[in-house]
Amino acid sequence: MAGRIPEQFIDDLLARTDIVDLIETYLPLRKAGRDFQALCPFHGEKTPSFTVSREKQFYHCFGCGAHGSAIGFLMQHRNLEFVEAVEELATAAGMEVPREARRERSSSGRELYAVLERARTWFEQQLRRGPGRERAVDYLKGRGITGEVAKTFRLGFAPDGWRNLHDALSGDGLDEGLMERAGLAIKRERGGYYDRFRDRVMFPIHDRRGRVIGFGGRVIDQGEPKYLNSPETDVFHKGRELYGLHEALQAGKPGQLIVVEGYMDVIALHQHGLANAVATLGTAVTGDHLDLLFRQVPEVVFCFDGDAAGRRAAWKALEVALPRMAGNRQVRFAFLPEGHDPDTAVREYGADGLFRAGRLYGLGEYLLEHLQADLDASTADGKTRLVAQAETYLRQIPDQAHRATAAHLLATVTKFDEELLRQRLGFTGRRTRERPAAPASLDRYTRRSLEEQALALLVQEPRLAACLDESGAAVLAEELPSASLLLEVWRTLRETATSTAALIERYRDNPQGGTLEALAVLDLNLPAAGMETEMRAALERLLKRAEAERVKRLRAIPLDQLTAEQKDLLRNHRRTRSP
Ligand code: UTP
Ligand code: MN
Repeated sequence: MAGRIPEQFIDDLLARTDIVDLIETYLPLRKAGRDFQALCPFHGEKTPSFTVSREKQFYHCFGCGAHGSAIGFLMQHRNLEFVEAVEELATAAGMEVPREARRERSSSGRELYAVLERARTWFEQQLRRGPGRERAVDYLKGRGITGEVAKTFRLGFAPDGWRNLHDALSGDGLDEGLMERAGLAIKRERGGYYDRFRDRVMFPIHDRRGRVIGFGGRVIDQGEPKYLNSPETDVFHKGRELYGLHEALQAGKPGQLIVVEGYMDVIALHQHGLANAVATLGTAVTGDHLDLLFRQVPEVVFCFDGDAAGRRAAWKALEVALPRMAGNRQVRFAFLPEGHDPDTAVREYGADGLFRAGRLYGLGEYLLEHLQADLDASTADGKTRLVAQAETYLRQIPDQAHRATAAHLLATVTKFDEELLRQRLGFTGRRTRERPAAPASLDRYTRRSLEEQALALLVQEPRLAACLDESGAAVLAEELPSASLLLEVWRTLRETATSTAALIERYRDNPQGGTLEALAVLDLNLPAAGMETEMRAALERLLKRAEAERVKRLRAIPLDQLTAEQKDLLRNHRRTRSP
């Protein structure tokens, strides 16, 4: 496994790449003021809202919300993975991508993949000729699984007994500690190891590239737990992997992926011609899952069981999807008839009837449907509550077009004036215009907190880091916890002079990355010349606030416990307050 790409290299790479030159090889750009414009490649439009800034080395579409660095553009436009995009830019810039020294953990990655692959082969062999294989074969046959699809998914069998796999792998000279780290063996307190998977039908879990990273094992007939899964290991992270993705990609490039809950659901759909099904591994849908899905396809259909657990899972998926609804992405929610899961439904209704048997919703439809379950939208009070609740969710959608559809639906349901609803949802333009008068100011700059205003200025104009010095930063750090992200970004910018794009890339895998991206595309509505004045004013107000906090804190301390310096501070404060 290759090591990490150092952050410094990403900074250097972005400094040597010009985003305008890069994007120009894909789209005709026209100069407009300080920036460049084009028709957005990520959504259909007739007047250009797609803007590229040479200064920030960043692109942003006011229409659909798409945005990012040169790396982000290649990922979004060409569907590349992060590393692929970096490698391509590096080649163009004549640079070699360095890798940080491999850590202990990742050096064993190759060994883990090897032992997992060996185990997969062994389980497969046991299904053909292992002791007690007949029950497993009968079970799979009884569930209607063909030999062909069993082969596609590399299904296997773990025979009953404590050390079957252990002995087979030991015979190959493999080490017990390695089996344990791969999640295949469990260490006994008294010493020695035993097999984790016993008397189970085995489902190997592959990563996108087809390497075995773990297993799920199902009991044959009855028993607990029904499915036993590999634990989290150095190569297996449930929240980031999707069962069946490799098999779906092998079957051809899908335009859409269907997300289901179970191993058997994926296999049954595949067998019925829906090879584009994937499953989460007994966990709720995560942001990492959706990012992985949207890297492969623009369209995702969540298809959950028609029971209470399925409805909970769908709502959770909606919450994760909202902030990711940019560009031409679509999500839909299919609810199966009560009592069905995708496995039984596809057998009963067929691939064509699967989504028609129950209900299929678009994002906005499902959102409103769900919110209406807890209120009566036929009363005035219910309508008002519906709008208020919908607003909180809809504001998380970065894309204008998706919000517009939802606003339209909301107007239909409540019979409220659509124009008013649109305003409330942050549309500034009139409906008849394709593009709003001001850039999509979903969150207006002036409505943000002072900390976020300063942060937005800093993100968009990194040289403004010079407006704050170390002593000011120290006061803020001590007195204003709300300024912690501002200070962190300030320090990053001080230590590595960098562009907006480089800063955003530094935060790519950081939970705060989303906040910084939102601030990077926020319309400040300020002339370039006014930014420094604005920054100084914001910092001054923050420092005042921090000093007031400090005084309040010191006043609460008995005088005899204050240092001379602290007493001075209080005295000075009184003098400036009351001349
Ligand atoms: P379900 O209980 O819906 O089972 O679990 P299923 O997929 O329909 O299984 P069959 O049809 O009875 O064989 C859905 C998913 O939740 C995880 C598994 O990933 C399973 O596929 N799960 C379930 C577990 O991890 N452990 C369990 O004990 C049960
Ligand atoms: Mn099932």
